Amino acid sequence: MQGGRTGRARSLLAALAEAAEKCVSAGAGTVMRILLPLFTVFLALAAPVYADDRGIEDFPEGKGREETANMCAACHSGRLVSQQGMTRAQWDETLDVMTERHKMPKLEGGERGLILDYLATAFPPRGRRGTPNPFLK
Ligand code: HEC
Repeated sequence: MQGGRTGRARSLLAALAEAAEKCVSAGAGTVMRILLPLFTVFLALAAPVYADDRGIEDFPEGKGREETANMCAACHSGRLVSQQGMTRAQWDETLDVMTERHKMPKLEGGERGLILDYLATAFPPRGRRGTPNPFLK
């Protein structure tokens, strides 16, 4: 999950603050020499946390990928969809829930079929629950 990475980013922030405190008396040159690398590491760690929430990269290649990502990542992260594993019938129900409870435009006809086929193929039921291994996708 994202908790670990966010936690790491937080402890880095704490380290940054501590380093800044230690260096106030040491002069600006020293402060920058210590803070700049730390800040770079912080950015490198923080970037993927935000990238997770963007959208289409959470959707594997396949027919209907763009249509599905455009529709489903409009309101929430693609991750919220990609972490699920369901049958076509269960995805069908999920679409109704999105429309009834969350005001998603009602999907009908060919577009609904396309998106359902995609969801059922890309995110089928999984035997094991939990965080999917991103390297096995
Ligand atoms: C109009 C906004 C909207 C659209 C479009 C939308 N959803 Fe959602 N969806 C929500 C909201 C709001 C939640 C619940 C809040 C949250 O966890 O972010 C949610 C939650 C979910 C969940 C989590 C399960 C649950 O019941 O909480 C799944 C799965 C899901 N959506 C799938 C989809 C799929 C698949 C699509 C595209 C066909 C889609 N959503 C499009 C608004 C939307």
